[in-house]
Amino acid sequence: MVSHEGIVTSKTNLINKGIKTMRKQIAAANWKMNLTYQEGEKLLDEILSAAVHMADHQHTVFAVPYPYLLMTRSEVEEDNTNYYVAAQNCHHKKSGAYTGEVSVGMLHSMNIKYCVIGHSERREYFAETNAMLAEKVDLCLESYITPIFCCGEPLSVREAGTQNEFVAAQLKESLFHLPAEKIETLVIAYEPIWAIGTGKTASTEQAQEMHQYLRSVLADQYGQEVANKIPILYGGSVKAANAPELFRSPDVDGGLVGGASLVASEFIAIMKALK
Ligand code: PGA
Repeated sequence: MVSHEGIVTSKTNLINKGIKTMRKQIAAANWKMNLTYQEGEKLLDEILSAAVHMADHQHTVFAVPYPYLLMTRSEVEEDNTNYYVAAQNCHHKKSGAYTGEVSVGMLHSMNIKYCVIGHSERREYFAETNAMLAEKVDLCLESYITPIFCCGEPLSVREAGTQNEFVAAQLKESLFHLPAEKIETLVIAYEPIWAIGTGKTASTEQAQEMHQYLRSVLADQYGQEVANKIPILYGGSVKAANAPELFRSPDVDGGLVGGASLVASEFIAIMKALK
């Protein structure tokens, strides 16, 4: 394993750390812009002391604020197999005069394995477009960082009944330029915007229906075998109480968890709910 100090890594190390082609089940914590450094350390300690075992096909991922990446990486990756750290974002250009931004190359040089791309909050508050997200996905894949690509419709679209078309367009415009051998390494997170931070979870049926639909869109473009390899996480008010039922659905491969990931007992239960 790469040590805390050893922040430069190689392709071989990344592969050894378990970026595999089989369909993973993932519990991903998205801390968003919450917690002080000390609160973050304490939360991690509480979660890690539960020592939840991840099977070979299961990953726990902590998407933390940039300044906490190294601390989190050293805490979670030392003794915990299949625990990873994610950035919550990256810039869509390689490098240059973009004051305050963080590049994919920087994340790679810190041995970060996952990056959340296109969260609805970034699309809404930071005007991220599907085209920009395509650039971010490309940069991540070049650096062996697995994008957790977020998609999902706002309430108005759900009410109009056009959520399938809306979400399919997000996939097409940001991902369908990729060849099969690249897209099959991605993780997708379906997060209906009306369910994020609202306490209003999509029903298990709504989640399964959309996940199945997304997999069919991927299958139409790339074939069923490729579509079957791509984990599709559900996000939007996932908590300990609803995770087991959501995760039982055949096309729901885990969750991207905001609010409940800030409470140790909640997130531990969600990790244990993975199939
Ligand atoms: P939530 O957030 O679990 O608080 O709804 C999920 C997300 O935005 O990733």
